[in-house]
Amino acid sequence: MSDQEEPLLGIDLDWPNPARMYDYALGGAHNFAVDREAFDKLLTIDADAALVGQTNRAFLRRAVRYCVDQGIRQFLDLGSGIPTQGHAHEIARSVDPTVRVVYVDNEPVAVAHSRRLLNAIDGVEMVAADIRDPESVLGAPETAMLDLSQPVGLLAVAVLHYVSPDDDPAGLLARYLGPLAPGSLLAVSHTTVDAVDPVQAAEMRKLFDSTSSPVTHRSRAELTSLLSEQVDLVEPGIVWTPQWRPDGPEELLSDEPERSGTYAALGRKRD
Ligand SMILES: C[S@@+](CC[C@H](N)C(=O)[O-])C[C@H]1O[C@@H](n2cnc3c(N)ncnc32)[C@H](O)[C@@H]1O
Repeated sequence: MSDQEEPLLGIDLDWPNPARMYDYALGGAHNFAVDREAFDKLLTIDADAALVGQTNRAFLRRAVRYCVDQGIRQFLDLGSGIPTQGHAHEIARSVDPTVRVVYVDNEPVAVAHSRRLLNAIDGVEMVAADIRDPESVLGAPETAMLDLSQPVGLLAVAVLHYVSPDDDPAGLLARYLGPLAPGSLLAVSHTTVDAVDPVQAAEMRKLFDSTSSPVTHRSRAELTSLLSEQVDLVEPGIVWTPQWRPDGPEELLSDEPERSGTYAALGRKRD
């Protein structure tokens, strides 16, 4: 997408945006020069930045499949992003075409592109909302399609790092999980600088601070404390994304999983 083609109101081209940087990293076309420049700069700091997106998407696919195998037939996908191959409804519906999915994002390109793509699909909806306002998300007319008396797969994949400590991520998760039925599952991936040297970590932080949504990297210990208050983690607990129930030894970065820069976990809502 060229900047001259700006088709939508509400797009802020003054700042790189994480949804569009991520789209660029995954080879998508829904990004602008400001996003591409920021991601190219990130690559000079972290040469593995493109692999982060790929390993994260692979985790999303495995997590959705796991949820469907556990009987989940409806999903709420927080920070769903610009649709790319292997969106949650495609993965879930390859097993059961009746699965319902509600996507949520607050980035105008992600919202518009999702709506364009999903409008004609029954049982798949897009909510334009800030995930830090769970009551708006859960109260949105589109979300009413979910039957909250039945278990839900709550996806918070590569999004909680945009929730700062001031926004109380633990309280936020509790407000999402509270209304969900027993048996609901929460899938999370979260960036970290646990395996990065402090100088590189500081440079990464500086770059993300120059985007529209600054990032809070969290350590494994912080993520453990955040999630263990909310859910009972299934095996293998909190691990690097390539280590979370890999499909096989050929999983990307399986030999050096820390290069994914992202932890993954899935847990069951406590009764
Ligand atoms: C890195 S992308 C991840 C996309 C997808 N979940 C995945 O893992 O492939 C993060 C997404 O979260 C969205 N996001 C960040 N902060 C948000 C917020 N406060 N409310 C809604 N969406 C948000 C961004 O717009 C972006 O689309």
